[in-house]
Amino acid sequence: MWSLMNILAVATALTASTVAQSNNSDVDSSSIIYQLSTDSEFAFLLEEYLALASGGGSATGEVLRAASQIVSGDYESWYSEFKFLGDAMHEKATATNATRFPVSARDNYFRAASYYRAADFFLHQNQSDPRIYSLWDIATADFDTATSLLDVPPIILNISGPGFTIPAYYFSASPKHKPGCTPEKRPTVIVGSGYDGSQQALYHSLGRAMLERGYNYISYEGPGQPSPRRYQNLGFIPNWWDVVTPVVEYLHTLGDVDTTRIALIGESFGGTLAPRAASVEHRLSAVVAIDGITSMQTTLLEQFPAQLTALYNSGKPAVFDEVMLGLMRNTSVPTNLRWVIAQGMWSFNTESPYTWLQKLGEITSEKDTLEKITCPVLVFGAEHDILPVQQSRDMAAALGDLATYYLFKADVGAGEHCQLGAEAQLAQVTFDWLADVWGL
Ligand SMILES: *[C@@H]1O[C@H](CO)[C@@H](O)[C@H](O)[C@H]1NC(C)=O
Ligand SMILES: *[C@@H]1O[C@H](CO)[C@@H](O)[C@H](O)[C@H]1NC(C)=O
Ligand SMILES: *[C@@H]1O[C@H](CO)[C@@H](O)[C@H](O)[C@H]1NC(C)=O
Ligand SMILES: *[C@@H]1O[C@H](CO)[C@@H](O)[C@H](O)[C@H]1NC(C)=O
Ligand SMILES: *[C@@H]1O[C@H](CO)[C@@H](O)[C@H](O)[C@H]1NC(C)=O
Repeated sequence: MWSLMNILAVATALTASTVAQSNNSDVDSSSIIYQLSTDSEFAFLLEEYLALASGGGSATGEVLRAASQIVSGDYESWYSEFKFLGDAMHEKATATNATRFPVSARDNYFRAASYYRAADFFLHQNQSDPRIYSLWDIATADFDTATSLLDVPPIILNISGPGFTIPAYYFSASPKHKPGCTPEKRPTVIVGSGYDGSQQALYHSLGRAMLERGYNYISYEGPGQPSPRRYQNLGFIPNWWDVVTPVVEYLHTLGDVDTTRIALIGESFGGTLAPRAASVEHRLSAVVAIDGITSMQTTLLEQFPAQLTALYNSGKPAVFDEVMLGLMRNTSVPTNLRWVIAQGMWSFNTESPYTWLQKLGEITSEKDTLEKITCPVLVFGAEHDILPVQQSRDMAAALGDLATYYLFKADVGAGEHCQLGAEAQLAQVTFDWLADVWGL
């Protein structure tokens, strides 16, 4: 029987280890990107928010200032600094006459929304924390106000799915249509995030790049992702095609979509979800996995300290839960492990780490799933990914002739998970490949 002593032993062992750190043999430590925090999880997230700058979702000075104030590993400090920035940009936005200065108001609303989302990031450990909801309410409201000030605002809608609704933003690449004109049909990309990302952030990281290339795009969130988790109380589901198919159906009702050229992109854990959906939804003409992940559960069980993995496999859920919850709440334990437990339980809508890990194991894109895909798939790997790059190679290998594989390089700053901070390189490879597939 596991005693408190054993639990403490695991916790002690963990302070010396780093979970979810890169250990890819392809890359040596000299290729690690500049770190904005001594806490590797904080550094990664700061990079994520800094990276939104090129798409108008943040500003470098604002994020670097927050980075200078945040106490490494201190969740409340992270919250306070980003809440401060969110409030500051929100005040600037509301003080701007949006009729007279729509661009100024819009840009402030976009950044306020990002910083409010950032403020929420490390709060999920206590699922009753009301800030999880209040921050998201204001972040979404500010984002929606910002998009209403675009030249061509998106259609903001909820699509009906089986037993849930799918919040979505549809951005048309066509200039405003004149009444009575038939809109030009354009290629269209469906884009979704992963384990923790929002569809709003995708506007800044990939959305604008698609519109500039003349592609329409629709972003969506399914169960487990930020908005359905909060407003419908739903955790991740394995039947991800039930999320994507209603989105495809919706696109088929629009006049400006070329339905022979619909692609699906999944980012981060979306690199599992998108191929999984495409194994059942065959009206997609192409899929992009940023990056290819065959099994998150396998990754975690490999990266956990051996003692923890052995405990999971020992079939004692109550003991495993006690140990994991102890680790999650222990501020001496590395943030990456504490966060991955908290976010796992939150996004799977459970208070049990065991249940989370078990359900995570049902959501894979391995050979049995991949062999049902019928369209070309672009599979990305990243040299310095926090997740094992080998899984992206496995995914491409299982897809055989349908796969195009591309490895992003660390020496030109593109080696991070999801190519954070190198969105221009990501966009070039992704969208030029799509143009080839579509024969454009
Ligand atoms: C938290 O972890 C530290 C260091 O690993 C350990 O010494 C301490 O006993 C743990 N605290 C609890 C409450 O488990
Ligand atoms: C990383 O991989 C090397 C080589 O396979 C191994 O010796 C080392 O223990 C690994 N480090 C961690 C933290 O897993
Ligand atoms: C905002 O600007 C518009 C257009 O210049 C003007 O008509 C309106 O009075 C202004 N509103 C406020 C509250 O100043
Ligand atoms: C979680 O948050 C709620 C609401 O703020 C609070 O009442 C509760 O004490 C918190 N629980 C823990 C374990 O901190
Ligand atoms: C979509 O549904 C949410 C509740 O889940 C609601 O708050 C929101 O207003 C709806 N949006 C639209 C555009 O109907």
